[in-house]
Amino acid sequence: MKRHPIFNPAIFAMLLGLPIAGLLTMISCTTVPKGPPTLKGVYKKDFLIGVAVNQNQFSGEDARGNPIIKANFNSISPENVLKWQSVHPRPDAYAFEGPDQYVKFGEANHMLIVGHTLVWHSQTPPWVFHDTNGQPVDRETLLRRMHDHIQTVVGRYKGRIKIWDVVNEALNSNGTLRQSPWMKIIGEDYIAKAFQYAHEADPEAVLRYNDYALESEPKRKGAIALLKKLQAQGVPVTAIGLQGHCNLISPTVEQEDAAIAAFAGLKLQVMVTELDIDCSRGGQRTISADVADNAQAQAAESSSADGLSDDLQQQLARRYSDLFGVFLKHKDVVKLVTFWGVTDADSWRARGNPLLFDKKGQPKPAFDAVIKEAGQ
Ligand code: G3I
Repeated sequence: MKRHPIFNPAIFAMLLGLPIAGLLTMISCTTVPKGPPTLKGVYKKDFLIGVAVNQNQFSGEDARGNPIIKANFNSISPENVLKWQSVHPRPDAYAFEGPDQYVKFGEANHMLIVGHTLVWHSQTPPWVFHDTNGQPVDRETLLRRMHDHIQTVVGRYKGRIKIWDVVNEALNSNGTLRQSPWMKIIGEDYIAKAFQYAHEADPEAVLRYNDYALESEPKRKGAIALLKKLQAQGVPVTAIGLQGHCNLISPTVEQEDAAIAAFAGLKLQVMVTELDIDCSRGGQRTISADVADNAQAQAAESSSADGLSDDLQQQLARRYSDLFGVFLKHKDVVKLVTFWGVTDADSWRARGNPLLFDKKGQPKPAFDAVIKEAGQ
């Protein structure tokens, strides 16, 4: 079998806990011609480089994005298509056409495929929490709905989606548990149950707790307490997802470093799951990934709607360099770094021009900086 020169089986095997020989028979790769440096190429010995993809991209219709994805990334996350609202819009209806296409896209391109997300307070249709009279359902009903959803969705892609964000954003910024409908109706053990159901549906999958702003101390402490409790109960949580929705000033390098070290101390795989760096003026106020907070921040900014000034390009490049310096420092535990979108035009906060490729798909100085950081 010919091997892709920038494909590193050792990293895939380590991440997935597979013997290398087995993995090589699982994935077949072809040689690609030599060209300019790519993200996945320069980080091949360190960690995988992922990207969130949208429908246009996994259906192969994005002429600007698809060549970038294929050249630079060896893992994908579904930006929206596997959220409850998309995949299970009504009690008796699953919509698997998009997710099937997403998984096939990843397989066709020999990528590590991530699932996002099973249990979240957002993008979950109201019917999940209500009976036919519009009243909140009881604990047993909601647990049954959660179980059936996880069994059906994880079970369908068993062995193909290797990593799942099982519970997303369960914490408040002060580290306490968010009073989501899951929490209010089921109670605190909804988190443990979700991981148990996911493990039953695919015992081999890496199961993540995923959240934003985990670099801030109160939230980090809350997450660590939660994860320790789950581990003590034998709950199969195996990875932590640091979303990484950053801005130009926050989190600091020291905070990023401390957060990764703290989670590594729990013997969890650490993954950066939704990396972007907001350059808009409004975006400097918060690193909350809450959709409403963000819309407010973006609305406050107008000057960077069409792109970044030279100065901001340089600031962004330095920030990405600094953060990748931290990821590299912890490469023994950081298994995957995923960008939340391909180009600035695709980003959920496009006004902040937060990614490595601009709205026309051209690499920004930040792209060169990330490439260069790998060689330091
Ligand atoms: O699907 C509808 C489409 O039918 C309609 O025409 C269009 C008109 O606005 O809206 C479409 O839905 C939007 C969807 O993205 C797909 O584009 C939703 O309104 C919009 O709210 C949704 O935003 C997503 C957001 O999560 C909420 O689910 C963003 O794309 C996505 O990047 C963002 O990702 C989240 C992570 O899942 C979790 N962490 C935070 C991160 C950023 O908020």
